[in-house]
Amino acid sequence: MSIKPEFIPAYQPKEGAQRAKELFEKTFSALPSGVWRAPGRVNVIGEHTDYNGGKALPLALPHAIYVALRVSEDGQLKIISEDFPELSIIKLSDLEKHYPATGPGAFVGGVILGLAQVLGDNGQEELARRLQAKVPGLEVAVASSVPLSAGLSSSAALECAIAVGIDELAGLGLTKSFEGRKLLVEAGKLAENRYVGAPTGGLDQSASMLCEKDCVLELDCSTWQTRSHPFDLPALGLSLLVIDTCTSHDLADGQYGARRAACEEAARVLGVEELGELVPKIISPADNLTDLDADDYPPTWVQQQLDKLEDTEQVLRVRHVLTEIARCQRLCELLEAGADLDEWRKLLDASHDSLRRDYQVSCKELDAAVAAARKAGAFGARMTGGGFGGCAITLVNSDQVEATARAVVEAFNKAGFNRPRFLSVSPSPAAGKVE
Ligand code: GLA
Repeated sequence: MSIKPEFIPAYQPKEGAQRAKELFEKTFSALPSGVWRAPGRVNVIGEHTDYNGGKALPLALPHAIYVALRVSEDGQLKIISEDFPELSIIKLSDLEKHYPATGPGAFVGGVILGLAQVLGDNGQEELARRLQAKVPGLEVAVASSVPLSAGLSSSAALECAIAVGIDELAGLGLTKSFEGRKLLVEAGKLAENRYVGAPTGGLDQSASMLCEKDCVLELDCSTWQTRSHPFDLPALGLSLLVIDTCTSHDLADGQYGARRAACEEAARVLGVEELGELVPKIISPADNLTDLDADDYPPTWVQQQLDKLEDTEQVLRVRHVLTEIARCQRLCELLEAGADLDEWRKLLDASHDSLRRDYQVSCKELDAAVAAARKAGAFGARMTGGGFGGCAITLVNSDQVEATARAVVEAFNKAGFNRPRFLSVSPSPAAGKVE
């Protein structure tokens, strides 16, 4: 068997837009009003911290979803996609009454209904009314280079592409300002939480809507404040390799929700709204956040909280969340101070080990991908996203991308796993119109 690794290319914006437009014309026998794009994401560190009011550090992928859109007056959502070639039709008023729902209509309609709600909640009733009047229904054609169900946020990318599209179709002007974009993030999150029924935390929509080209986004999920850090890997001679384990991953199933519930219960026992409140603003450089087997792990301020918990599952979950927020904080500090590749490696590796051992969201394929990349000489490797399958990321010397991918293919082949696929990525711009 050949071990040549398969790389998944990203569409160039022109190509993605053309594909969505052609699919639209073929399906609806009409021209769309425009094409909008929104990227998938990987998270560099800070995993399962968003719904705990902690920090995360995502970047937007060059792999994106493209939607060609046109308003329809009949109150229906008609959606066609390259990946699901059967036309899906749902009435917006039905979704309003019956949710959570399945299928692409839940995502698309969820964003329309979610945005109206978010605008109303933020005292922008006039804009909410305009949205409802101007976008009573929608025809949508979707082209995507984001692999589906791979933990790269294809659903958030769809939500964000729809959000920037309806923003423009209704003339709301939210995409143009940072504060407006945050409302679109909220709408996407509401679509996912309420209308799709996945209790996710907002990291994915924030990444797709707020990331900048060539930067990682420091995202504080307690205040939703952000800061972009340049992430110039080529200058360091490095590349970011994403390994898609091609193992299924579904966030609407119970595992993700169970982790979230355990954290919320632990926060209640510890007397805080969110676990993130327990992390000091300044992390002492002496704190051990990376050697999970050492006696001084976790740092004392973490152990003191763990000692107050009786439930052993909660102890494990809280140990991950508090140390992971601190690891993310430390990596942000390192990005400010200048790259220290040895520290980066330790932080990324420890993040994975903590997700595997304490948060228990890894799986044998992710562990094998990480182990093979590390063995091939990577500067850190870890699972990214919700886990239970999906993708791992690894930083490798730029001339070692192919060799690392080969090493992973070989390891998967030996273990009898599905054949993995790869994405070679650099930080890309956030959601917007394709001109
Ligand atoms: C998924 C969720 C996010 C976040 C990550 C884990 O991607 O959608 O909200 O919780 O998992 O960091």
